[in-house]
Amino acid sequence: MDNVLGLKCTACGREFEARGIQYVCGKCGKNLDVVYDYGAVRKSLTRESLSKNGDYSIWRYWDLYPLEDRSHIMPLQIGWTPLYRARRLGELLGLDEVWVKDDGRNPSASFKDRASSIAIAKALELGFDKICGASTGNAASSTACLCASLGISPIIFVPETAPKAKIAQLLVFGARVFTVRGTYDEAFDLCLAATGEYGWYNRNTGYNPYTREGKKNCSFEICEQLNWEVPDLVFVPVGDGNIISGIWKGFKDFHAAGLIDRLPRLVAVQSEKSSAVADAVNGDGVIRPVKATTIADSISVDLPRDGDMAVKAVRESGGMAVAVSDEMILEMIKTIARTCGVFAEPAGATSVAGLQKLVSDGKVNGSERVVCLVTGNGLKDVESAVKVAGRPVSIEPSLASLKEAAKKAGIT
Ligand SMILES: Cc1ncc(COP(=O)(O)O)c(C=O)c1O
Ligand SMILES: [Zn+2]
Repeated sequence: MDNVLGLKCTACGREFEARGIQYVCGKCGKNLDVVYDYGAVRKSLTRESLSKNGDYSIWRYWDLYPLEDRSHIMPLQIGWTPLYRARRLGELLGLDEVWVKDDGRNPSASFKDRASSIAIAKALELGFDKICGASTGNAASSTACLCASLGISPIIFVPETAPKAKIAQLLVFGARVFTVRGTYDEAFDLCLAATGEYGWYNRNTGYNPYTREGKKNCSFEICEQLNWEVPDLVFVPVGDGNIISGIWKGFKDFHAAGLIDRLPRLVAVQSEKSSAVADAVNGDGVIRPVKATTIADSISVDLPRDGDMAVKAVRESGGMAVAVSDEMILEMIKTIARTCGVFAEPAGATSVAGLQKLVSDGKVNGSERVVCLVTGNGLKDVESAVKVAGRPVSIEPSLASLKEAAKKAGIT
């Protein structure tokens, strides 16, 4: 790994060699960050090299990953998800240029495949054969999916309340699943304890330093898909804060590698019922746990495990944080679907709900180029969607019955 200099503590700055597995700082216990030799990266990764690269997946950015061995790449299409120009949504919000990145189009139908890919490849490179993880649902179903493609059965901890579709994914992909009678945070801590007890490889978000290394590639794709025109604002749904810290790292990586000459402002969007990061950004910058109860299960987090880095990402970028109501999130599922043809799960729709709120607060200028990340597919949580989707009309299998119902519905 000539491209990697080592790991660095995000709090105290202590440096570690990137050998073996080191999850958190040995001195202060805080999260680690992978440090690259951008001089070396610049030599191999250029706009020209990318223009000649026919691999339209996350693996086209190999030079910016902390991996040595390509033999652990999953045989699945991960990343290079569509970035749609959302003209009708933009018009509705009174904005010139809105883009929606549909990350529900990944193999397990969420953004989390970006993180799992790098974390799992690292596990195999280090020789682990048992991989575990705790999750609100998507990181787990992603781990299960990607592991299945490699013939591995991971050990998974999810809260018992995770949506049925996510638990179905886990089981169908053949993971060994423990549904924990408690919160996500309790499942997370149990998974950490199990790692200590059994020596398994732990993929937990905001604990394993390699998840951020996968999440960042979404920013690389945005730069390329916008033909190197960096957006002004990127709206990100936030739970643990690892996606937004990864998004920030991605833009900074490309900047340090000389591929882009400016950086976007990041907007962290949370539910009012799970707002630890937004509270910190809009307050004194210190993360304090909350009692999360949002319907957007993927971002229902008491103590954000990458919260400090999320706050730093927003502040360094000159961005903002906003909390929206669950009602706005649910309504936005419908709005995105009906204006863009993209079906988002509640957490996925949160980014656009945040945009809507900041537009109505006069905090987004109509001519700014805005990208919203839709991080998970709506089929993962159909129960939430049907709350706002309306009802079908039940009819007899006869033309007479159709005619009567169509007349009532004003369909001619
Ligand atoms: C669909 C979706 N959106 C957003 C998030 C938030 O990501 P993070 O916890 O890294 O902030 C998650 C995390 O599980 C998710 O599954
Ligand atoms: Zn430290």
